[in-house]
Amino acid sequence: MNLSQRITNITEGGSDGWEVFYKARRMIAKGVDVTELTIGEHDIRTDPVILTAMDQSARGGHTGYAMVPGTQEMRESVAARLTERTGVPTTYENILITPGGQSALFAAHTATCSPGDRALYIDPYYATYPGTIRGVGADPVPIQTHASNAFKPKPEEIAEEAAKGAASLLINTPNNPTGTVYGRDTLEGIAQVCKEHDLWLISDEVYDTQVWDGEHFSPRALPGMAERTLVVGSMSKSHAMTGSRIGWIAAPKEVITHLINLATHTTYGVPGFIQDAAVFALVQGDGLEEEVAAPFRRRRELAREILAEQNTVGLIPAQGAMYIMLDVRATGLSGEGFANSLLDTHHIATMPGESFGQSAQGHVRVAMTVADARFKTALQTLVGHAENLAGQAQT
Ligand SMILES: Cc1ncc(COP(=O)(O)O)c(C=O)c1O
Repeated sequence: MNLSQRITNITEGGSDGWEVFYKARRMIAKGVDVTELTIGEHDIRTDPVILTAMDQSARGGHTGYAMVPGTQEMRESVAARLTERTGVPTTYENILITPGGQSALFAAHTATCSPGDRALYIDPYYATYPGTIRGVGADPVPIQTHASNAFKPKPEEIAEEAAKGAASLLINTPNNPTGTVYGRDTLEGIAQVCKEHDLWLISDEVYDTQVWDGEHFSPRALPGMAERTLVVGSMSKSHAMTGSRIGWIAAPKEVITHLINLATHTTYGVPGFIQDAAVFALVQGDGLEEEVAAPFRRRRELAREILAEQNTVGLIPAQGAMYIMLDVRATGLSGEGFANSLLDTHHIATMPGESFGQSAQGHVRVAMTVADARFKTALQTLVGHAENLAGQAQT
């Protein structure tokens, strides 16, 4: 029996560079004490006060079908958050509640791309992007970026691809995997390209509460952009609620109307008790978010201190999100080669840059997701390992 092209194409091209991750998992299963600096999962769990709200809601009976677009309270809470933080007047009619940011990315591309349309995205990228685009039948087109520019896209390079025809552009700031935050100037350039080439902008802002210098800026706030931007948000990273599967799309009202139709025929909404817990979390304001972000803020400082003391490993300016991207080209190895040798020699698992596309070759991504002392030791060991390899490469 043949399966559809849409579904079989999702993993076309395989998952290069993920072998290190699976190898680390096999080592752990055999009892090896591996320091895992791989995936974007906090080392803390959802705050007990949020769990209490979830429990009270479920026990109070909120376990039936919830409203497909999201509960009124949840849609209004997200709308209020976006109005306050971006200055763009946003109402519940601009919001669809989704089971996490990932399904929001799929829904956003379903809404904006017809089968065969070219959908642009920035390389290096969050691992699911090309598969998500292929999953809706569109054609993923990566736009390369450069370490020398902190992997920020150049608007003229986006324009070159847009000129060949495209339906959408997907960006992510603060960025996974690079930790880069796009400044207002970069976003203004991107907005200009979107307007000139009539592109939908899909703005993945799931790390919006993890900005280490300054504040998060959403391109939806730029003139003329609210009507062509779909913002993807999530409680996963901001509130350590990865397993609760709750996120949203903020978009023009007519786009949301169609997205509600899509949700009716796919997810049929998000559990009411999860939404009630999320509303509870959102109305607490910044406090809980800062608590969740604080360990990453601290570890980013630790990383800067450790890396400032040497010249072998380069640090891409780490401005946000729970990752740092390290340039290990001085070792003479690829990112994958370095990550493998670090895992084999020191039982430290990182993600090769190559897992996130072509642009980050010769780099490794380090997730700052273990306790401070362990993180510090792991990073010092990583640097020592790179220095040894670089010394050998020179002789
Ligand atoms: C850039 C980015 N977007 C979206 C997601 C999806 O997050 P979730 O579906 O948990 O909201 C992730 C998760 O790691 C991510 O890193």
